[in-house]
Amino acid sequence: MDAYRSMLLTAQPHSIVVLHACAHNPTGCDPTREQWAEIGRIMKERQLFPLFDAAYLGFNSGSVDEDAYAIRLFVNELEMEAAVAVSFAKNMGLYGERVGCTFLVTKTAEIAGNCESVMERLQRSEVSNPPAFGAKIASLILDDDKLTEMWYADLRTMCSRIRQMREALYRLLVENGAPGEWSHVVNQSGMFSFLGLPYDIVIKLRERYHIYMADNSRISLAGLNTSNVEYVAKAITESLQASEPATKGPAVTAML
Ligand SMILES: Cc1ncc(COP(=O)(O)O)c(C=O)c1O
Repeated sequence: MDAYRSMLLTAQPHSIVVLHACAHNPTGCDPTREQWAEIGRIMKERQLFPLFDAAYLGFNSGSVDEDAYAIRLFVNELEMEAAVAVSFAKNMGLYGERVGCTFLVTKTAEIAGNCESVMERLQRSEVSNPPAFGAKIASLILDDDKLTEMWYADLRTMCSRIRQMREALYRLLVENGAPGEWSHVVNQSGMFSFLGLPYDIVIKLRERYHIYMADNSRISLAGLNTSNVEYVAKAITESLQASEPATKGPAVTAML
């Protein structure tokens, strides 16, 4: 938070700051409500423009509304102009369909009209016509109360399954005696876990155990299930136990 605050305090006025609305990728670490309040206050004072990247609404708490807390804080309470880029790739399971929605919240109707014409020009030059199939599915769901309620229920299911995997991985790492301290696995939230494994362990897991994760040891918890979580925890434990003392255990603090 200290580094984050000092970035905000020294950024040029009118800079655009990209904020992950919830379930931060890759760290799984979100600001607390108090920290959001501070971030918003500094950004408003320093005339910084918030661009919310909202790709995981519903994946933190199971509720889209709750996970939109920071967006509402900036827009409704702090009355700031903002851009919000919402993706339905993950929370509607439409990854390959390229579906999302961009909102621009402006102070006046005139600014909104100007933004719309700029967006239309950008769209024309960037993508011409966006893919429509996923967007039709998303609007079908959101235009129908019953389907929306079913989607909310699915989100709660996905969210609780991800949380169960987070807890299972943590429990198994501790039970197996994996070297290091693992509470960050359960303290993070959302779809990702930043394990904090050294690079050589990431490579060993990939080559010897066929467990694939980003080089910085970020995993998608959605890839874990009751049939493979034990294998993954055992492989991490064995790899760490067999490694040199200098590379043992998670190094999350240093990596963040
Ligand atoms: C924070 C964040 N924003 C956006 C995206 C991409 O969204 P889309 O697939 O809709 O482009 C991702 C990952 O895929 C992400 O992690």
